[in-house]
Amino acid sequence: MGRRRVLLDVDTGVDDALALMLAIRSPELEVLGITTVSGNVPVARSTANTLLALEMLGASTIPVVAGAAAPLARALFTAAEVHGSDGLGDVTHRYPAPLRQATRGAAEFLLQMIHRHPGGLTLIATGPLTNVATAIQRDAGAMRRLQGLTVMGGAIRVSGNVGPTTEFNFAVDPEAAAIVLGAGLPLTLVPLDVTEQVILSRKMVDEAGSAGTLQGFIREMTAVTMAFHRDHEGFDGMFLHDPLAVGVVVDPSLVRGQPMAVAIERRGELTAGMAVADLRRRSQAAPTATVCVEVEAARFLRLFQERVLQ
Ligand code: BDR
Ligand code: CA
Repeated sequence: MGRRRVLLDVDTGVDDALALMLAIRSPELEVLGITTVSGNVPVARSTANTLLALEMLGASTIPVVAGAAAPLARALFTAAEVHGSDGLGDVTHRYPAPLRQATRGAAEFLLQMIHRHPGGLTLIATGPLTNVATAIQRDAGAMRRLQGLTVMGGAIRVSGNVGPTTEFNFAVDPEAAAIVLGAGLPLTLVPLDVTEQVILSRKMVDEAGSAGTLQGFIREMTAVTMAFHRDHEGFDGMFLHDPLAVGVVVDPSLVRGQPMAVAIERRGELTAGMAVADLRRRSQAAPTATVCVEVEAARFLRLFQERVLQ
């Protein structure tokens, strides 16, 4: 079987940067382009972070296209306390500014790429779904010609991470998440239920030592996020939310998926952005996504370690 052609839509972010590294270092994948969105940081910053991560990977020829600055219907809130004020652990000032600039028009780029590779493209989205929803609003038929859409987002049977029931990516842009969940796309959801099972420990990063420039960059850029997890989650490391979404595309056997009818709450005062799964035994609702409910965490961590940390 040939390599799977993928696009990534990211709000780079420490774990998005690690996801890009895993994608580009996975021989099963061919990364044809990357679109950026506001989320962890505003889009100008997530774009600059994406360009920097690609330079660190020696992958500067992959097209990067900047997308939405704000969610579809609300003001942006970011996650600087988790990722650092620059989104990459406050270390970007130590690295040269990226040599190239991104182009603009993420939704158009996604649609153009699907027209070029109908039925043969998988989109991995690891930020708020603003760009993906915009592409659906422009041409839902084209988006249905994706081979697959894998989304990191939601909390099904576990607590949220920004609110009691809400996960960050869906909470930032609930309207976009609702459009994506309702579009009838071949959607795989990678929620907190599984991403919080995969933890990159500080020890693993320290052991990678100075294997190369990339490993030094990883050690520096993960320090703020790991300190946040130490203070708020009680372990010295970080969840590999976005890298797991890439892992699921690299090797679907890492997870067990369950078809579910999932909808997105938009009006709740406490619950806007909540992923509501109809888990009733007598539910007649048609599934809207395959939800990852179990993960072989140790096997995924080995894959990540071999490909990114060595
Ligand atoms: C998601 O939120 C972001 O902060 C991370 O990059 C990840 O995509 C986890 O809830
Ligand atoms: Ca992200």
